[in-house]
Amino acid sequence: MRRINRRQFGAGIIAGSAAPPAGAQTAAPPIEEMHPGVWRYRFGRPESLTPVTTRKYPPSAAISKLPESSRVPITNVSAEITRRGTIVTLPLEANEVLFGLGLQLQSFLQRGLKKKLRVNADPKIDSGDSHAPVPFYVTTNGYGVLIDTARYATIYCGKRKAGRIATAADAAPAANMLPAAYNRYRVNEPAQVLVEVPEAEGVDVYIFGGPSMRDAVARYNLFSGGGPLPPRWALGFWYRCFGQFNQEEVLQIASELRDSKIPCDVLGLEPGWQSHAYSCSFMWSDKFPKPEAMLRSLFGAHFRVNLWEHAFTHPTSPLYDRLLPFAGDYQVWDGLVPDFLIPEARRLFAAHHEREHVALGVSGYKLDECDNSDYTGNWSFPELSRFPSGADGEQMHCFFGLRYQDTIQSVFEQRKQRTFGLVRSSHALAAPYPYALYSDLYDHREFIRGVANAGFSGLLWCPEVRDAKNAEDLIRRLQTVVFSPLAMVNAWYIRNPPWKQVEQRANNAGQFAQDWKQLESACREIVNWRMRLAPYFYAAFVRYKDTGLPPFRALVMDYPDDPATWTIDSQYIAGESLLIAPVVAGEKERDVYLPAGEWFDFWTDEKHNGKQKLRVTPPLDRIPVYVKSGTLLPLADVGAHSEDPAAWRIHVRAYGSAPAPVLLIEDDGSLDPAFTRVEISWNTADPAGTIRRSGPAANPRYEFTGWERI
Ligand code: GAL
Repeated sequence: MRRINRRQFGAGIIAGSAAPPAGAQTAAPPIEEMHPGVWRYRFGRPESLTPVTTRKYPPSAAISKLPESSRVPITNVSAEITRRGTIVTLPLEANEVLFGLGLQLQSFLQRGLKKKLRVNADPKIDSGDSHAPVPFYVTTNGYGVLIDTARYATIYCGKRKAGRIATAADAAPAANMLPAAYNRYRVNEPAQVLVEVPEAEGVDVYIFGGPSMRDAVARYNLFSGGGPLPPRWALGFWYRCFGQFNQEEVLQIASELRDSKIPCDVLGLEPGWQSHAYSCSFMWSDKFPKPEAMLRSLFGAHFRVNLWEHAFTHPTSPLYDRLLPFAGDYQVWDGLVPDFLIPEARRLFAAHHEREHVALGVSGYKLDECDNSDYTGNWSFPELSRFPSGADGEQMHCFFGLRYQDTIQSVFEQRKQRTFGLVRSSHALAAPYPYALYSDLYDHREFIRGVANAGFSGLLWCPEVRDAKNAEDLIRRLQTVVFSPLAMVNAWYIRNPPWKQVEQRANNAGQFAQDWKQLESACREIVNWRMRLAPYFYAAFVRYKDTGLPPFRALVMDYPDDPATWTIDSQYIAGESLLIAPVVAGEKERDVYLPAGEWFDFWTDEKHNGKQKLRVTPPLDRIPVYVKSGTLLPLADVGAHSEDPAAWRIHVRAYGSAPAPVLLIEDDGSLDPAFTRVEISWNTADPAGTIRRSGPAANPRYEFTGWERI
């Protein structure tokens, strides 16, 4: 029976870290600085299982290198513990808007909205359900807030208490700040963010200082441990094979990709590689009689192999009996649900993967179905489940994707090997994980919004390409995915590459479009652009690791003072200085907003002034991309894969009158490398480019072949 009396914890009276007896209050420092610019409010008795208490990675020391943020950005934070759980109240100023809350595919600007952060696959409504809900938000006032809970918290992003509260700001007009549709959210008035954390008798709230929005997100990411370090091959092109392929068919598609000169670094194997897939045996099926030989042959041709699986463990798996004591009390697809909060469960699971797959040459995994299934047939474990670690099903849904990633990470970390993979669920503090999220949903506009939104919450999102409505749809989707964290065609339900036939049934019947060669060549061109930009993207990931700045992010993160960026979810920034504005099939023209500064059209070199909206009519072979003036953009030659010498030959484009130096990164590919920073700079007086290496430079890899003045 839960307490009936309400206890109020204001900012000035906070329960100390030694939990007080029920009903008591302890005077304690109202707020504790945990790291430079990161403060914690502790309210009541927080639950023992939270994202912070179960984290794998410690905060990165680089937090102290961020711009100083010595003042607590918000102080009037309070909480009360009620029969409903813990309710936290945080302030919102007039004309302050907020973003984040994880992979929200249906909305962008969250002010005024209500989000219940339940873990779920394929949510089609904007309720907060998500593959990766994250109880973290960031505001245009330059700070972030993490509610450290593994509960399905509900966040009301702007409510006002009853009664007349007249403030000067009430009069401020919202009209020219945001489109009129936002007036209903009373953005121009002060309000409060309410967070309801069910079950809990207390919660920790972390505040991340800026001073800018970009710094606040970076601070959260560094608190999480910093961005991941992908292997170079992860930034090439990925192709996931038809789920029913056998070993020979996988080798055939590999040759087909090479013969048709479609660059490719990673092949994914879908469920058919296993002797039992729903649930999983984690053993090779008869269709793959010689996995080691297949992996060797693919590796020799510079293909990495990524295996699909989920964690639900089938009775035929050698892991089953050993995992039984460490599993939840309900089955999923006849399989066990391993309790990855328990070290022994992680160890057993990891050891099997090391022995049966990774030791043979597997380079990574796609960790499927670790979300939940309210909208997809209800296959997952119930929230009322119990796990030996003490977690219930609700908490486990919040943890499952993360702790599953921990388990698989340990395999690669022990081998001192980098990996990169896919995961269908994640949560708070996810920045250090080399995994991109994906979905069975397929709305192209939502997929684009996903790239912009994921960057607020330490997530990476893959707007994958499968089949298509028509050739235009395929081309437009492929253009988006090559300018995203993970460039991938997921052909799991089509036997042949989509450029041969976009329509699923005809594709599987081997009926190819008459002009498929033409479509293939258009697609090859698009994939080639990914290869040309891979060194630039790799440098952006190293920056993510070192400084916490997401490699892909919404415009508002870089331009929070420009309200015109607050609603832009159909464009995003890639790396330091590319602005991407994807086009969806059927759209003959679109608006592109260019923020302050000067921008160059990537394709035509035409210069545009910023702070204006352009109406563009992009031809089918071009996705609108703009380069910020003052950029040195390194572009590689196109290789068949990332180890091809061509992929290391660089041609530099210098945009604008005084381009700033830019870094490329060389390293040995190990897990803890010594980076050589290759600084590319431009001497405006000469004018000429120069290259300077700092760091070990034992084995310089990039070769610079030319400069172009734009
Ligand atoms: C789905 C997943 C797809 C594909 C499929 C195979 O859950 O989202 O990408 O892997 O399983 O059965």
